[in-house]
Amino acid sequence: MSNENQNNEKLAVAEKAITFVNDGDIVGLGTGSTATLAIQQLAKLIANGLKIQAVPSSEATKALAISLGIPLLALGEASSIDISIDGADEFTANLELIKGGGGALFREKVMASLSKKSIIITDSSKRVEKLGAFKVPIEFNPNAEAYVFKALQKLSSHPVKRIKNDKVFVTDNGNCIFDTDFGLIDNPTVLASELDQIVGVLAHGIFVNLTSVILMAHGDEIISFTKK
Ligand code: 5RP
Repeated sequence: MSNENQNNEKLAVAEKAITFVNDGDIVGLGTGSTATLAIQQLAKLIANGLKIQAVPSSEATKALAISLGIPLLALGEASSIDISIDGADEFTANLELIKGGGGALFREKVMASLSKKSIIITDSSKRVEKLGAFKVPIEFNPNAEAYVFKALQKLSSHPVKRIKNDKVFVTDNGNCIFDTDFGLIDNPTVLASELDQIVGVLAHGIFVNLTSVILMAHGDEIISFTKK
């Protein structure tokens, strides 16, 4: 798919997602290029009178929302979110996701966990039969680096510490990320619970049972995936 077509799909699905936002909602704002388009569209609705409070899932999204005049509530202060809109790096029709390509996985997972309706928006390149071609991001506390590395090696996942612009990537939470390769993942739920048990792992990029609906643009169509 050309970049232009991909961007058109991202915009179409972002425009669709914001039609689900109601006056008075607390709205979770995702992170990444697709979520950014939704946030920009939402700002237009707010300029036209929509009243919402938004909860950002990263420092980048917070800065974007502030620049667009979107009223904010800190993630840590939100006890419930009516609707959240976020992107994904990969998804299956069973609503399993890999997220965290942009490194915001922990706060995105908190946001999704707080959300009554969690909408994932993607272009058509993100749909897979089985998760795993995209490397699974794992955020860990640096004090546990060697321990987490060993634990991930035991799971044969070839952990590689994320580097960005020639520097170790540091998350908004002051942690680092291992990108891991589990091959194609037969059972994301089992893998998610194995990763949850590793001391020092703050969050991993496997999202299961956290999504209400996935909206995927495919050409001029918007296809919706919900729980079967
Ligand atoms: C950031 C994420 C993003 O949602 C994911 O990387 C998708 O980004 P994009 O919409 O730019 O493809 O999980 O941590």
